[in-house]
Amino acid sequence: MHTAVRRVACSRWLSLCELSWSGWRAADSGRTLSTSARRSTVMPAWVIDKYGSDNSVFRFTQNASFPIIHYPNEVIVKVHAAGLNPIDINMRGGYGAATLAMKRDPLSIKKAGSEFPLILGRDLSGEIMECGLDVSYFKPGDEVWAAVPPWKQGSLAEFVVVSANEVSHKPKSLSHVDAASIPYVAATAWSALVNTGGLNKDNCAKKRILILGGSGGVGTFATQMIKSWGGHVTVTCSQNAEQLVRSVGADDVVDYTSGPVETKLQALEKFDLILDNIGGETESWALGLLKPWCGAKYVTLVTPFLRNTDQLGIADGMMQTGVTIATKAIKHLTKGVHYRWGFFAPSGPALDDISEMVDAGKIRAVVEETFSFAQVPQAFEKLEKGHARGKTVVTVTREQKE
Ligand SMILES: NC(=O)c1ccc[n+]([C@@H]2O[C@H](COP(=O)([O-])OP(=O)(O)OC[C@H]3O[C@@H](n4cnc5c(N)ncnc54)[C@H](OP(=O)(O)O)[C@@H]3O)[C@@H](O)[C@H]2O)c1
Repeated sequence: MHTAVRRVACSRWLSLCELSWSGWRAADSGRTLSTSARRSTVMPAWVIDKYGSDNSVFRFTQNASFPIIHYPNEVIVKVHAAGLNPIDINMRGGYGAATLAMKRDPLSIKKAGSEFPLILGRDLSGEIMECGLDVSYFKPGDEVWAAVPPWKQGSLAEFVVVSANEVSHKPKSLSHVDAASIPYVAATAWSALVNTGGLNKDNCAKKRILILGGSGGVGTFATQMIKSWGGHVTVTCSQNAEQLVRSVGADDVVDYTSGPVETKLQALEKFDLILDNIGGETESWALGLLKPWCGAKYVTLVTPFLRNTDQLGIADGMMQTGVTIATKAIKHLTKGVHYRWGFFAPSGPALDDISEMVDAGKIRAVVEETFSFAQVPQAFEKLEKGHARGKTVVTVTREQKE
């Protein structure tokens, strides 16, 4: 690994030498040649220097550290558009800080607070600027999209470094703004439905799937994915979101704002899989809506994992989490249904499949509002108000801020 890192550093040094050499030759021949390829060491970005419950923690800087390729499988991407998700609001307030700190620095070598200045923003659409030595699937100039894992510096910056395994060629049919609305919710829905729920394009036909909270980013993506695989989708949402969820393919829509939603759902045929985007109270009745003793699964995206480690520390938090999931899984198994937790998982290969589905017209972007790079705090305000009917996307260009 170290050899590889040194090889990257070495290639950088060689290219700097080449630049100086070509500049020298140009001067020698009397021609003026600009060597503007010299790498900048800073870039514009929105950062936070501490956690906080409002946008006063945001700071715009032209001098954020330029990302560096540390491993040979990494790429640097120039961001054209960044998408925001509820996790950005939560991370601004410190959600998941303990676990993410451990992921960034497993040996706890750095001092507390070393994640700052922290860059938020999980979705990106942009173009490859530089590839590590082991990257052959991408080349500079390729248009790509990705969901940046929460333990890495995010996409509210001009450049981001990510692993090539986390990146995928962007769908040709989408603009950068539309493309930036999909990766994080898509990677989450894919992980929950495919990896955890066991669905795929060959076994989905005629399965009955219930999505609790179907009008948000994850719900509208999951609905389109399941419909393209031939499944039957029932969603819960508020009445004014019915048009949106129908437009992405929902077969049955249940309004959660007019009377007890569980009573309305109990009147329907039972389900093969439930994706829960709401959590809390829903767990007390939702599992009773599954077909018992035939492998039906309840997958919730609302888990206490990160909160436990934030509140109890890594060791106790993980132990508490393990006890909770084991207790719930066993309790529901005795009733003939599977209880599971779903998590976002970055995956370039999953995005490759999703890119094909988008270009085939099976999945569309649901963007509600676009903000310029100068308006990042306003974009967060909008996200915080809730009742989104599509994603909040920020376009990232140096020109717009200067
Ligand atoms: N575990 C993970 O790794 C992971 C990853 C991604 C997301 N998540 C979680 O998954 C959830 C969904 O994410 P998202 O990006 O889709 O969020 P989102 O865009 O904010 O969507 C949530 C949707 O739920 C609706 N809603 C709220 N209360 C409801 C209720 N009682 N019944 C039915 N619908 C209700 C909202 O509609 P109204 O405006 O009509 O209220 C909203 O459209 C969030 O809780 C998020 O934190 C977890």
